[in-house]
Amino acid sequence: MTKIIAPSILAADFSNLQSVCGLLNHSQAEWVHIDVMDGVFVPNISFGFPVLEAIKRHITKELDVHLMIQNPDKYIERFVSCGANTITFHLETTDNPLKTIELIRNCGARVGITINPNVPVAALRPIVRHVDMVLLMSVFAGFGGQKFMTETFDRIAQLQEIALQQNADFLIEIDGGIDTEIAKELFNVNVNVIVAGSSIFNSQNPQKTIKNMLEE
Ligand code: DX5
Ligand code: ZN
Repeated sequence: MTKIIAPSILAADFSNLQSVCGLLNHSQAEWVHIDVMDGVFVPNISFGFPVLEAIKRHITKELDVHLMIQNPDKYIERFVSCGANTITFHLETTDNPLKTIELIRNCGARVGITINPNVPVAALRPIVRHVDMVLLMSVFAGFGGQKFMTETFDRIAQLQEIALQQNADFLIEIDGGIDTEIAKELFNVNVNVIVAGSSIFNSQNPQKTIKNMLEE
């Protein structure tokens, strides 16, 4: 089973991005999670293209871009040219999710779809066969450092049931409030990708925290 840690750069020291990249390059994290917020879909603004390009220059890992922006279609090409390997958008942010999926695919990136905790998992039924990854938010998108919502485990089971019914094959990613213990529990229920910001970057030894998350 695929088991990937994607540290969320949102919790890192922005005054020292080059050394953050160095630290991640020498860790067991396979992806780096990039949270893009527009102040419209979520009540927060993070960073955009110049920061993404700067990270790309120094990172050897894949960039997992999480778009928390209204009308993502407009910017997909640009995110891919800045180095995004995976682009995940919120179902709630586009009128035509299948069109957004096609746009991402045509640009050559892996396609992810995500929903906030208040959106029923069943809303993904018509979509899952078309994506490479489904991200279930375990906090409301917008801020790092929130508390993990335990209902997420039920939602994972519902998603896995839908995958089974449709014989669909996609990665499951979970994002928000995840510490080492929760990461292990999530891997145990066959989650593939764990996003973690605060628990990695606020720890004494981020590389060791990443390693611990991956241990059985
Ligand atoms: C929340 C973001 C998350 C966040 C995770 O809107 O999507 O990726 O950075 O950070 P922690 O692990 O601190 O909850
Ligand atoms: Zn995120």
